[in-house]
Amino acid sequence: MILVTGATGTVGRALVDRLVAAKTPVRALTRRPAAAKLPEAVDVVAGDLGDPTSIAAALRGVDRVFLLTTGPEIPVHDANLLHEAARAGVTHVVKLSSGRTGDDTATDPIPSWHRLGEQALRDSGLAWTILGPLGFMANALHWADSIRHQDSVFAAYGHGRIAVTDEHDIAAVAATVLTSDGHDGRTYRLSGPEALSPGEMTAVLADVLGRPLRFIEVEPARARQAIVDHGVSELMADAIMALRATALESFTSTVHPTVAEITGIRPNSFKEWAARHIADFA
Ligand SMILES: NC(=O)c1ccc[n+]([C@@H]2O[C@H](COP(=O)([O-])OP(=O)(O)OC[C@H]3O[C@@H](n4cnc5c(N)ncnc54)[C@H](OP(=O)(O)O)[C@@H]3O)[C@@H](O)[C@H]2O)c1
Repeated sequence: MILVTGATGTVGRALVDRLVAAKTPVRALTRRPAAAKLPEAVDVVAGDLGDPTSIAAALRGVDRVFLLTTGPEIPVHDANLLHEAARAGVTHVVKLSSGRTGDDTATDPIPSWHRLGEQALRDSGLAWTILGPLGFMANALHWADSIRHQDSVFAAYGHGRIAVTDEHDIAAVAATVLTSDGHDGRTYRLSGPEALSPGEMTAVLADVLGRPLRFIEVEPARARQAIVDHGVSELMADAIMALRATALESFTSTVHPTVAEITGIRPNSFKEWAARHIADFA
């Protein structure tokens, strides 16, 4: 049995679907089972990564775990899960981390939180694998409102390119690592097939949607305010903006061959991702 945390989110949901399609027994942890909308074959359990008792219950009969944690709680939630996993006899934990933990100059919050989680995983005594994507194509969904209502994309750091990854490719790597041998002790940096700037992504979306879109570069302070206006905490907004600023660095634009090496399938382009998500922008 594989326990998937973050199963209702972008990557976790794609992983659950993949495991179910392969008829792999899968359990999903969520704080709100009634709202989870997961496939029938999934054993959906209520739990909170901040609550060790609920984690222990979710781990009964589990031998492998996909560990996805978010925000400032990453170090504590990783530690909670790892502590209970070691007690429960779990054999292998695959942690979704940040590709930027491999960049020694990245001292901003998100890679720093993940580095603590990675260290706890290495120290846990469990078999482990770390997946480090650089940036999700799905972040473009944050532009959906302005595309729908203003035919425009507003973003900071317009010259920065990120080798963005399709969540389906991250899920494909995770499924392979969870269900085959040879990945113990490995850290895989993941990327899509090309590095794109927000303006280039806007051009791809315009092409796929079949209508002109404008790209408008905005000051970082305005972009930060837009994140806060969406209900994100000030702490997390600062962390996200610090992350976005690193799009200007060469580290985030490096294309890695790992998705194809691990899964045997070439990673999806942003155009393929956008074609799958037309309804979100229409
Ligand atoms: N976005 C990027 O560009 C990017 C790039 C590299 C790495 N990453 C990393 O990817 C991860 C985010 O993945 P994602 O976008 O797929 O996540 P997401 O869509 O934001 O979903 C978050 C998931 O975490 C679960 N969750 C949140 N708090 C929880 C808690 N206290 N207990 C149990 N479950 C909890 C939620 O489940 P319920 O609400 O159902 O409980 C949900 O399934 C982060 O670690 C991030 O650093 C992101």
